[in-house]
Order: sequence, then structure tokens, then C-alpha cells
Amino acid sequence: MDIEKLIKEMTLEEKAGLCSGADFWHTKSVERLGIPAFMVSDGPHGLRKQDLTDNTMGFNDSIKAVCFPCGCATASSFNRKMMYQLGDILGNECQAEDVSVILGPAVNIKRSPLCGRNFEYYSEDPYLAGEMAANQIKGVQSHHVGTSIKHFFANNQEYRRMSSSSNMDERTAREMYMPAFENAVKNAKPWTVMCSYNRINGVYAAENKKYLTDVLRKEWGFDGFVVSDWGAINSRVRDLVAGCDLEMPASNGRNDAKIVAAVQNGELPMEVLDEAVRRILTVLNEYEQNRDKTAKFDRDADHERARKMAEECIVLLKNEDILPLNHDESIAFIGKFAKVPRFQGGGSSHINASKVESAYDYCADDNIKYADGYELTDDEIHEDLIEEAVNIAKSVDKAVLFVGLPDSYESEGFDRSHMGLPESHNELIRAVAGVNSNTVVVLHNGSPVEMPWIEEVKGVVETYLGGQAVGGATAKVLFGEVNPSGHLSETFPVKLEDNPSYLYYLGEGDQTEYREGVFVGYRYYDTKKMEVRFPFGHGLSYTTFTYSNLKIQRHGDLKHNLHTVSVDIKNTGLVAGKAVPQVYVAPPKGDAIRPIHELKGFEKVELAPGETKTVTFELDARSFAYYDMDIHNWYVEPGVYTIEVGESSRDIRCTCTVKPHYDYPKKIRITENTIVSDLLKIPEANKIIEEVLKAQDENLNGSADADCMGTSTADMMMAMLSYSPLRNFIGNTYDMGMEDYAKKLEALIEE
Ligand code: BGC
Repeated sequence: MDIEKLIKEMTLEEKAGLCSGADFWHTKSVERLGIPAFMVSDGPHGLRKQDLTDNTMGFNDSIKAVCFPCGCATASSFNRKMMYQLGDILGNECQAEDVSVILGPAVNIKRSPLCGRNFEYYSEDPYLAGEMAANQIKGVQSHHVGTSIKHFFANNQEYRRMSSSSNMDERTAREMYMPAFENAVKNAKPWTVMCSYNRINGVYAAENKKYLTDVLRKEWGFDGFVVSDWGAINSRVRDLVAGCDLEMPASNGRNDAKIVAAVQNGELPMEVLDEAVRRILTVLNEYEQNRDKTAKFDRDADHERARKMAEECIVLLKNEDILPLNHDESIAFIGKFAKVPRFQGGGSSHINASKVESAYDYCADDNIKYADGYELTDDEIHEDLIEEAVNIAKSVDKAVLFVGLPDSYESEGFDRSHMGLPESHNELIRAVAGVNSNTVVVLHNGSPVEMPWIEEVKGVVETYLGGQAVGGATAKVLFGEVNPSGHLSETFPVKLEDNPSYLYYLGEGDQTEYREGVFVGYRYYDTKKMEVRFPFGHGLSYTTFTYSNLKIQRHGDLKHNLHTVSVDIKNTGLVAGKAVPQVYVAPPKGDAIRPIHELKGFEKVELAPGETKTVTFELDARSFAYYDMDIHNWYVEPGVYTIEVGESSRDIRCTCTVKPHYDYPKKIRITENTIVSDLLKIPEANKIIEEVLKAQDENLNGSADADCMGTSTADMMMAMLSYSPLRNFIGNTYDMGMEDYAKKLEALIEE
């Protein structure tokens, strides 16, 4: 396509038409100019392509496809290569099915365990979420298929999702809710960004010029198009001006007409419309020019890949010498999820799975006993099912319970009302653990659950919503054919009330205040040293790893604060395994109120028994910085930072310290109310103050005041001086008859 030529030739109506869908999933074609219609489809963990043979507005069944592990699971892999591979497979599937953009990844931060869509999202940590997203995007786009990173931004609840306003200060937005997008936009260049339904500080995301244009495009360099979440357009013309290029789905001409009228009456400059058209055509052309008509969607091969991925994601949470299971032991699988696993959530990401593999079927040769334990469709306690389960549990060496959240508990569209499992599942666990002390719990859930029975069971395996092949992967982990290597991408609090957003989550009416600020997830629990059920980053293995020889070295120029951290990791156990070293940066006590530490690096490393590898991580200025609202920029405070390397945020294996170069001067405007301790941080002011203090000291020398001043009084005087505004310091200097010095201080005040 010659895009500039097309823009010249298109009529106003055709241009306006291109800025909204033809239907639920297609852009409009302009046949007379040879512009075809393009199809987009959900995402994010499989291809939900509408079956075009049925034409009922997108609510009908989608084609059979492969459901890969959901975001909650894939983030637990801590494996960038796997995320790339997932993207790579999805990109190929899109080419095979002629889908130009897949709607994902979804990177919203898990503010509360209750968010109904947590299963699609990656993490409570923006660095981890950003790294996972960037790699998935690169994989998809390596096939010249676009991605749509979503939902930009602050879409952290389903309740009133199309009207609520996520209200937060700039620092919270910059440090917690934007960086996953920022990382992916800067490093993986997604072709499109999907704006969220909600408002941000009162302004709908779709018409938020500050974020869609000033930040996304001008600051981060995004050069694709912005698509509205389905139905997120508020005011079509205003949204277009703000930077929301494509409206989805179709508005059936209503909003196109508004664009046409706005151009005609001079309200909307034609250049704004041209620019949106240019962005849309540029992206679609990239797909069109690189169609791979040889691509094949091999569902069976992708199913095998989905299992391999699930193996990489499963997190072993607790293991008191009970796992792996041994094929010689008598074993019972209890709970319907053993035969009918819950492997995905409801809503727009729901895949019409090509096949489903259960743990029970996968272990067909193992003579495993089985009991239902509960009904899938209700959460009532069925005494007869529990009794049957108890009898079977009594007769075996080990009982493995498959429990979790039913479909009705978590989905797009609504939030969970509590953090518990259904009582029927809790009751089953208690009953079985009561008769068999060798009980293991396998969880199928998209977000943390409370575990009131934790002390009664010896093992807990978190499979999350692990995709259609989760059953096989679970069986392989249980029997030790796969050594688990997933780590939690979120904290499991002991109870919901411990969560930092607990008091404010869902808000009042349409106002949701993010009052916990940057203290989301482990940033809160760890800073407060609270007891948690399982910490962020936690995950056990059937082997053990030791860490040693932690080093940090500066390289490159000072400004970018580039540091290489290296550590030796040794597999000290008897089986091969994968370690997940995590790097946390702990800031010094400075002016800003900051979390005790934050994740700034991680790797996944495979080690044979006895093998040692040196693992390196790169830190940059951002690794040390916080977002300063005075200067509206990232700022590295001076001081000694601790670098912690460990296997979870609570299992730090070694530390070292570093003094990064700090961005100086932080621009403080000196007024007569600036206090002395702040002035001392500014070199020019510091020099003058030292000079005045020295002169004052000489002035005082020998006076009765000076002689009788004890040390504590001197400390108190110094403290009082530090917190004195400049005006008082000037006044005192005048009072001491030191007019020249007082004038020097006055000269510091900026107009
Ligand atoms: C969801 C998006 C999804 C879109 C299309 C919306 O309701 O929020 O995540 O991509 O529908 O299905």
C-alpha cells in the first residue's frame, strides 16, 4: 500500500469509516482503493477467533484452538524465553488463521486478589509484568502479526469497569500502574495499545490525551495505533483528538458521522484524522505485506507445547517430604478437577479448547483411585461425596486433592466477593487430611486463595489456570518427571484483610481511590514485615540451590548507572532443576517514602546436579530511582543501596551494597520557607550556609551561651536549625548583627 497516496485519495467518509470497526472483529475495507478488511481476535493465551461461518455479532462460538496457560500461570514461569515462545506460537496461529492483531498481552497490576480478571494478568510487580509482556509481544510480532497490549491503564477491578475512576497520584501511576506498558512499548514495540474502559483521575482512558499522546507517544515513542477496548469510546471526536485511533467494535456509522461533521464544521482538523488513518494503515500494511500463507495451525503440536509450558509454570508451594509421588505407592486423586481440570477463566479470553487433558487420564496406567469429592456446578457440601472421598483416602498411602475456584467464582465482568475456596472444597480437604496424614492439595485458581487448612496438609501444588494440557503437566510434577520451577508472581496473604487495598478496593460509587499508593503486594507486606501465607517469588524445587560470590560492577557512563550484578548458583541436590534467582534493590533511608525493596532483575537457570553457573543481571538508573512528583521525573537519591539476591522476596540468600551515581541537583526552588536541611543538599546554598554558620560560631565563641551548652543542647540546636525555614535563619543572622551574611542568605531566594 502506498499509504500517503491512499490518504490523498480517500474521501472524508472513508477516512472516518476506517477509524471504527465494520463489525465485532474486522476493520472496514475500502474496495475502490484496494484496502482490505483486517481481522483482529482475542488473546491473550490462545486464539479466540470468531467462527466466521456463524454471523451473530461475535457472541457465538469461536474456532477450536489451543488454550495455553493463562497470564497468572505464565508469569510464574519467570521465563522470558518461554514467553517469547508462547508469542511465537500465537503469531504463527494468527498467520494460519488470517488474524492481523491478537488482543493481548494483558498486563494490569494485581492490586487485590479479588479482581475478576487477575487470571489473565501477570503480576503484582510491574517489572515482572513488563518483562513477560515484552517477550510475548516480540514472539508474536516476529511473525508480522500485531499485538494489542491492554488495558492501558489502571483497569484493576471489574466492578463498574466502564464508569469507575481509578484515582491515584502521579508517582503511583508512574511506579506501579504504567511501567509494565512502558517497558513493553519501549522494548518490544507493540503494534497497537488497547486503552482501558475506566477513567483515570476522572478522565476516560479513551480520551486521556495526557496518557495516550503525551506519555505513550511523545515520551515512550509508541508509533502504532491505539484501539479502544470494546465499547470504551466515550466521545468519539474528543477521543480521536486525545489519540484513540480505532474504535472497536462497529458503531454502525453513528460515530463515523460525528467525525465527518466535526471535520466539516472545523472542530476537528483533517490532519488529526489523517494521522489516525496513517497509523491504522501502517500497522495493517505491515501485516498485509508479510502474509504467510504457508503457516499451519497444528493443534496437536501446540497442545504438546502447551503442556511443556504448564510444566514450567506450576509452583510447588509446600512440600514436607511428601512429593514427588512414587509409582509404587497406592494413591488416590480426589476432586472433580482431577478429571475435569479448571484451566482457564471466563470472558473474552475464553478459548474453545481443541482438547483437554486431565491428570487422572494422564495417569491411566497408574491404577489411581478416584472420588468426586464435590460437584462442579454448586458450592454446597455434599456429605455423601465427602464420605466416599474419606473412605478412599483411608485406603491409600497418599491422597491428592484437586480443588480450586469454580468458573462462577472468577471471570471477566465481575470481581470475587471473598478470597476463600468454596466451603465444599475446604470441608473436603479437612475431612481427607483428617484420615490420611499424607495429603497433598493441588490448586486450580486464577488468583490467591486463603488456606485455613494449610497446617493439616503436607504438600500444596499451585497449577493456577494452566491451559488445556495442565492435567499432564500436573501429573508429571506430582510424580517427579518434571522438577517444578514456577515461582509466585504475587503474594499469597494469610487473609484478604491483610491486602493493602482492602479498605479502598472497588471504591465508593464511581470513585476508586488508590490510597495504598505504591505499596502494592510485597512492597507493602515486606515493608511492614507482615506474616504472609507465601511470599512473592516463592517456589520450591525437588533439588536445592546455594548462592555465593555476589558481585556488582559499574560500567558505562555515570549517568545511566549501569551495573552488572553476578552471582554463582550451585545445584546441591540429586536431580536437575531450575533456579529462579531474583534481584531486589533496597534503597537507603532518604526523603521519599519507599518500599523496603523492589524486584529489578530475575533469571531462570537450569542446573544439573552438582553444577554451578554464574548468572548476571543488568541494573540501570531506573533500578534505583523513584518517581519524584516535585520534578515530575525519575530521581535517584544519594546513598548506599543494598542489592539482595534470593529465591523469593523473603528468602534473600546474599547481599552486597553499592553507591550509585545520583541525579543531582534535584531542582528545588529556594523560597524563604525552604528549610535549612534541604538547602544543605544544594551545593551553592550549602557553601553559603556553612560559611554563615562558621561566622556565627566565631561570633558566639567565648560567650556564656557557648560555654554552658552541653552536647545534647548542641544537638537540639542543630536539629532546630535544620528544620528552620530560611526566613528564620536570615532573621537570626540579622539579630546577631551580621548584616552582610544575612544578605548573602537573602540572595539565595529565587524569585
Ligand atoms: C475486553 C478486552 C477484549 C475485548 C474483545 C473486552 O470486553 O475487556 O480484553 O479484548 O473485549 O473481546
